[in-house]
Amino acid sequence: MDNSKKTKRKILVTQALPYANAPLHLGHILEAVQTDIWTRFHNLNDNECLFFCADDTHGTPVMLKANEMGVKPEELIADVYKDHKSTYKLYDINFANFYSTHSDENKKFSEYIYECAKNNNLISKSSIEQYYDEEEKIFLSDRYIKGTCPKCGAEDQHGDNCGVCGASYDVLDVKNPVSILSNSTPIKKKSDHIFFDLPQKNKMLKDFLNKVNLQESIKNKLNEWLSDDLKKWDISRDAPYFGFKIPGEEDKYFYVWVDAPIGYLASISNWAKKNDLNMEDLWSEKSDYEIYHFIGKDIAYFHGLFWPALLSAANFKLPDGINVHGFLTINGEKMSKSKGTGILAKEFANITNPETLRYYFAAKLNNKVEDIDLNFEDYVQRINSDLVGKYLNIASRSASFLKKNKNILSTNVDDKVLNNLILMKHEVIKLYESKQYSKLIRVIMDLADKINKYINEETPWKKQHHEAVEISSTAMNAFFILSVYLNPVIPNITKKAFEFLNVEKISFDDVEKTKIKKINTYKPLLNRLEKIIIPEEEDMDNVNLINIDQFSAVDLRVAKIVKAEHVEGADKLLRLTLDVGDLGTRNVFAGIKSAYKPNELTDKHIVLVNNLEPRKMKFGVSEGMVLASSNDEGIYLVSPDSGAKPGMKVR
Ligand code: MSP
Ligand code: ZN
Repeated sequence: MDNSKKTKRKILVTQALPYANAPLHLGHILEAVQTDIWTRFHNLNDNECLFFCADDTHGTPVMLKANEMGVKPEELIADVYKDHKSTYKLYDINFANFYSTHSDENKKFSEYIYECAKNNNLISKSSIEQYYDEEEKIFLSDRYIKGTCPKCGAEDQHGDNCGVCGASYDVLDVKNPVSILSNSTPIKKKSDHIFFDLPQKNKMLKDFLNKVNLQESIKNKLNEWLSDDLKKWDISRDAPYFGFKIPGEEDKYFYVWVDAPIGYLASISNWAKKNDLNMEDLWSEKSDYEIYHFIGKDIAYFHGLFWPALLSAANFKLPDGINVHGFLTINGEKMSKSKGTGILAKEFANITNPETLRYYFAAKLNNKVEDIDLNFEDYVQRINSDLVGKYLNIASRSASFLKKNKNILSTNVDDKVLNNLILMKHEVIKLYESKQYSKLIRVIMDLADKINKYINEETPWKKQHHEAVEISSTAMNAFFILSVYLNPVIPNITKKAFEFLNVEKISFDDVEKTKIKKINTYKPLLNRLEKIIIPEEEDMDNVNLINIDQFSAVDLRVAKIVKAEHVEGADKLLRLTLDVGDLGTRNVFAGIKSAYKPNELTDKHIVLVNNLEPRKMKFGVSEGMVLASSNDEGIYLVSPDSGAKPGMKVR
């Protein structure tokens, strides 16, 4: 392809705006990584691609969470904003702008779009009946009601569907309704609501679905909704509500799903202003930017119907594409805090190199709406075998031969070998563009396999100096090409690779244009991963309070280590024989081998959980647990001050 003829595409990309009532979890990172890879790919391919996001700050959950914490919603969302921003940074998510829906720009756009809709006769008002909590003085949406299923009589069911018989129903039909906010019985109360006339947009939406780049399965679902009876959309909420007031109305607020997607416009326009650019040129009816949204399958309805309807009401350009992804499960289960799989994104970044998660997600993601499982064993295995064992291995084994040549590469390289890699460029680009990342990773790793095989067959270690240098120079150029291919997925590791290879700014064209001349000293760019262990839940904003009786139930005792020994076949454990005074001796297995040598421990006093259920292990029965603290650097046993005698109670 003649690259000089390639026209530069201009693309605006968004991901869904995370709610500002909780920290980010790994599902949020899945979406961010999918979007970020696509953005980085386009930029590497000499297009201009800009990635926008913001926090979704409005609505009842944010308001209630702030109340519960005794802070103003503004304070809560300011804290969450900082937290979200820094978490995305850990995963190298390259936003042009990460903004907030609680902003002047967003207010302005929301009001503008509403006014346009009004002028187009798309807005109407009518009275509806809802549950109202008289104690909390608030209207209750379905999710704040519990009660008895009107179909099967099961108690304690959700406001709009039954977990026992599966029926969905109108919240007003629930028997014995209870407000989950106050546990009181709500009353039915009427109030005026404002509606957006979605049925008027039926034809426009059908045309939109015909044109938009969106997975077929989702298109079919949306078309079903369109053909069923499309209802007017309730876009107002009564006070108290955290959000924007609807102009010309008393105590009425825009429903959060109105101003949330408008937050895309707000983020872009805020960035435009800071960069002296015109919003008209970025996103308006006449702009020549392509627009793509990345979202999860749960919010396809909002992005495929409500959002284009709002945009069209105010004559904004409609999205060119919506990419919908499935949900993340962890070790085969839905993410859940109680099961320890609701792991927060910022915690996970402490446990492992966050960039390896980018790689793993890429290796699992495709362009279908399928759920994706993060399995910790598979993850460690995958990273060690692909990134360390295949890709980086090429550089480390070749570097040693080049070192003997003052790190200077030969120009006499095997072009046939390199051309095989260069020829795959268009395939690589095609797979990135179509978001078939798992296939892409397979293609790239096959190429890495071929290069390792080439080195194995050429046996540089048996060859004369100049030949060994030529083989290694070929391999090192191959490593460069693979680094370019992998750059959108693992930007940091490949950046370090480019520094090592002495190349600066890169694009896909460099795979044929650039030859590596001299390298720097090779330092490992990634260490092998160890088994992933999620630390016990000690979530700061989720401390479980216990009462004194619960604490007293734990029998803590001072104990003296009389003997400590290695356990054959256990790489983490030491066997401790403990003297617990009058209570006798105990045999305990402790996972402290990495931090203590057995002979350092003899005669040391520690604290024992004396009444822990005995645990049968491969190596014997463990009769209790010793208290210790740990972090990335080590393990620290807890000891009483001198004077404490074995058997004494600790409380
Ligand atoms: N605030 C709305 C989006 C407004 S967009 C104008 C919202 N927020 S969210 O925090 O609940 O979700 C943000 C994104 O994360 C959504 O695209 C959602 O589908 C995605 N995910 C939430 N949980 C997820 C998984 N377990 N797995 C993958 N993505 C998940 O919805
Ligand atoms: Zn039921």
